[in-house]
Amino acid sequence: MKRVNTCALVAAFLACTSLALIAQDAPAAAPQARRPMPAPTNLQVLPKDIAPQDLMKMMFGYSQALGVQCPFCHEVNEQTHQPNFAADTKPDKKIARTMIAMVQDINSKYMTQIDDPDAKPADKTVTCGTCHRGNTMPAQFVPKAEEHGNAMQMKKPE
Ligand code: HEC
Ligand code: HEC
Repeated sequence: MKRVNTCALVAAFLACTSLALIAQDAPAAAPQARRPMPAPTNLQVLPKDIAPQDLMKMMFGYSQALGVQCPFCHEVNEQTHQPNFAADTKPDKKIARTMIAMVQDINSKYMTQIDDPDAKPADKTVTCGTCHRGNTMPAQFVPKAEEHGNAMQMKKPE
């Protein structure tokens, strides 16, 4: 039941978003047919002037990286099922802000120091998915015993 409601909410938001996107791709479309997304009012980490479609790309990226849907981080009214994306009521939204800032720092301060001419831009970009891989809590890495042993063999790297 809860899941169905969530899907309906996302679908409604998407319909709205894609209308705005289509309207942008086709400047000839009647302007009165446009239903632009409301401008964000509570961005504290992402650039305040981010394009609506870029904001949505990021939001879908976060959802996929953690294997969740929008209400994991965003408040939804129990009665009206209306989302309030600007509200800061959900603890995971606050955690996500810290994570966004962390990822920005990793990429701008640290990845830029890595001199690896073979690496493509995507290779030297840390994303939410780098750690989360579809989980809300990143899985802990426990090395196998034999891998531990191999690390001690002083073999010439190939
Ligand atoms: C992992 C947590 C997370 C998920 C999942 C998530 N968001 Fe967000 N969202 C955030 C954070 C954090 C911000 C605020 C970013 C900032 O402060 O710069 C935000 C901001 C927004 C805003 C701007 C609100 C405003 O007015 O300031 C919109 C709109 C939004 N999200 C939509 C969505 C949609 C639609 C989905 C699902 C496709 C989604 N979000 C999924 C964390 C999330
Ligand atoms: C360097 C690895 C790493 C990256 C990159 C990363 N995270 Fe995390 N994230 C973690 C770890 C570790 C935890 C668990 C922290 C804890 O529980 O104290 C976590 C926890 C979270 C949680 C809380 C989950 C829960 O169930 O309580 C959210 C939400 C989250 N991350 C969002 C994000 C978002 C959004 C991004 C990308 C902007 C991101 N993370 C990038 C390592 C990472």
